[in-house]
Amino acid sequence: MKKLWGGRFKQSTDALMETFSASISFDKRLYDCDIEGSIAHCKMLARCKIITTVESKKIIKGLQRILRECDEGRFEFSESLEDIHMNIENRLSEIVGPVAGKLHTARSRNDQVCLDIRLYLRKEIDDIVSELDRLSKALVDIAKKNIDLCIPGYTHLQRAQPVLLSHHLLAYVEMMLRDKERFLDAYKRINVMPLGSAALAGTNFPIDRKITAKLLGFPEISHNSIDAVADRDFVAEFCSASALTMMHLSRFCEEVVIWNTSEFGFLELSDAFTTGSSIMPQKKNPDAAELIRGKSGRVFGNLVSLLTMMKGMPLAYNKDMQEDKEPLFDTSETVKACLRIFTDMIKTAMFIPIPQKELEASGFLTATDLADYLVLKGVPFREAHEITGKTVAYCLENKKTLADLSLAELRKISKRIDKEVFNHIAIKNSMDRKNIYGGTAKKQVRAQILRLTKKLKNKSR
Ligand code: ARG
Repeated sequence: MKKLWGGRFKQSTDALMETFSASISFDKRLYDCDIEGSIAHCKMLARCKIITTVESKKIIKGLQRILRECDEGRFEFSESLEDIHMNIENRLSEIVGPVAGKLHTARSRNDQVCLDIRLYLRKEIDDIVSELDRLSKALVDIAKKNIDLCIPGYTHLQRAQPVLLSHHLLAYVEMMLRDKERFLDAYKRINVMPLGSAALAGTNFPIDRKITAKLLGFPEISHNSIDAVADRDFVAEFCSASALTMMHLSRFCEEVVIWNTSEFGFLELSDAFTTGSSIMPQKKNPDAAELIRGKSGRVFGNLVSLLTMMKGMPLAYNKDMQEDKEPLFDTSETVKACLRIFTDMIKTAMFIPIPQKELEASGFLTATDLADYLVLKGVPFREAHEITGKTVAYCLENKKTLADLSLAELRKISKRIDKEVFNHIAIKNSMDRKNIYGGTAKKQVRAQILRLTKKLKNKSR
């Protein structure tokens, strides 16, 4: 196939080299962005009288036909045409003839590809943000429905203090909201129109970059042509926001895996999001959660690939940068799929109430409350800590829980204790006393549910 840059070449490209340098197998997914950008560029060229209206209309009609061919899977992508830009331009010349050659006036593939990625990322962020919203809403909903459920809160994966399950779930909503902010913040820097930078120096033609920006809905145009074609920091920002989202999701998945075990039994996943074992008939495995946890690895890896690829590269465009696409596409596809599956998995999971007796029997969840009670009675906290430690040791020796202790037993350890102590070490009261803004008291958690419900109702953009 004749190359679009064939003029200076006497020999044809080596076959292996052709395959090696081609990006069409993965950048073909940019076809709609590429055509959208080309149509805007073409309209602008006509308005600036660089091409005629007749020429522009012909080119645009051809591009629209190519769009339909791609949408319907009829477009034949060719490796020898290297990438999506040249595949489309070549097809355009087949459809409209030599006038197709005018489309690339005042443009280079360097600014073109940068525009395409920006258009692509705007859509991807829209999708990811709505997935994050959907997940956050689902979690707030679960928190509302299960407001009475208590679980042991953990530090070091050791039972620490009783908390409302809702409080624990809303912790993830806070993370998701920050994830969303990070994506929206990256969006601002993505939302800049680079066309007109051409190869690196700008263009000789009197184009109006603001027209192109307006046609494509960009509030800003790039200010330095070298920077515009040379950097991919906006791709790295997207991958970094994605990596953090996956880190959050993978922690949640780890908890789902643990909670779904018979040892924990805090929740039961629906059959729809688990799989069986080919050998052990009793098994119901939390594959969705495990896969998401596992897929965080490739998303972190993509960020590192991208940063390493960019590192040490001289300005401006270098072909290394073609390597930005696979990590980017993989990141976006993975994050979207994981968010979708996770939301459906958690929505269909059943949270199982833990009986009061079991909570009392486990791990001295309200030991800190006993210490705090002694502080209320005027005992310095350090001393209160010591007394409580002795109480726990006594329980362990005698195979008792805090709730099993009689007043006489407690007073043997400290005379400062009287019968109100039972009020303080009861699990429910322990939570209700955490009545501080951001704490696990039901009143506080209800207030957060209200705040989050309102926040998620407001269209943030
Ligand atoms: N396929 C190329 C890429 O993705 C497009 C830009 C090519 N520019 C060039 N000067 N070879 O980076």
